[in-house]
Amino acid sequence: MPFPSKTISLIALSIGTVLGSTPAVAQVPPGRMLASQCAQCHGTNGQGPGFEELAGKSANDLYGDLREMKLRPVEGIMDRQARGYTDQQLRLIADYLSTVTPSGNAD
Ligand code: HEC
Repeated sequence: MPFPSKTISLIALSIGTVLGSTPAVAQVPPGRMLASQCAQCHGTNGQGPGFEELAGKSANDLYGDLREMKLRPVEGIMDRQARGYTDQQLRLIADYLSTVTPSGNAD
């Protein structure tokens, strides 16, 4: 045997730990996952650069804006974006973005 059995059981234990642990992706808050769709125009985590910095805004203001854009007749880009989400998803996005530190990178 190339390795002492103690080493082998340690290796087996490590593999078990890796396989048994929750995948990293499952630990990402759902609001953050959903808000990743906003990054192409508002920057990663809404921190810019891009249109309107979303990071650190009040959750209720963000949610209110998103609901308004979702419900009003389609005029601009955001009205289409907002329609892609349920109200519950918009709430998760708004709650998440409100927890992010603003960067001052956006216009
Ligand atoms: C394709 C580009 C694009 C994407 C993707 C996008 N936005 Fe926007 N967003 C804009 C633009 C452009 C504006 C500013 C002009 C406007 O309101 O249409 C804006 C403005 C906003 C505003 C401010 C609205 C106001 O009343 O001033 C909020 C809030 C917002 N976006 C949230 C989001 C969220 C949350 C997402 C992801 C779910 C998202 N945006 C995805 C382009 C985008």
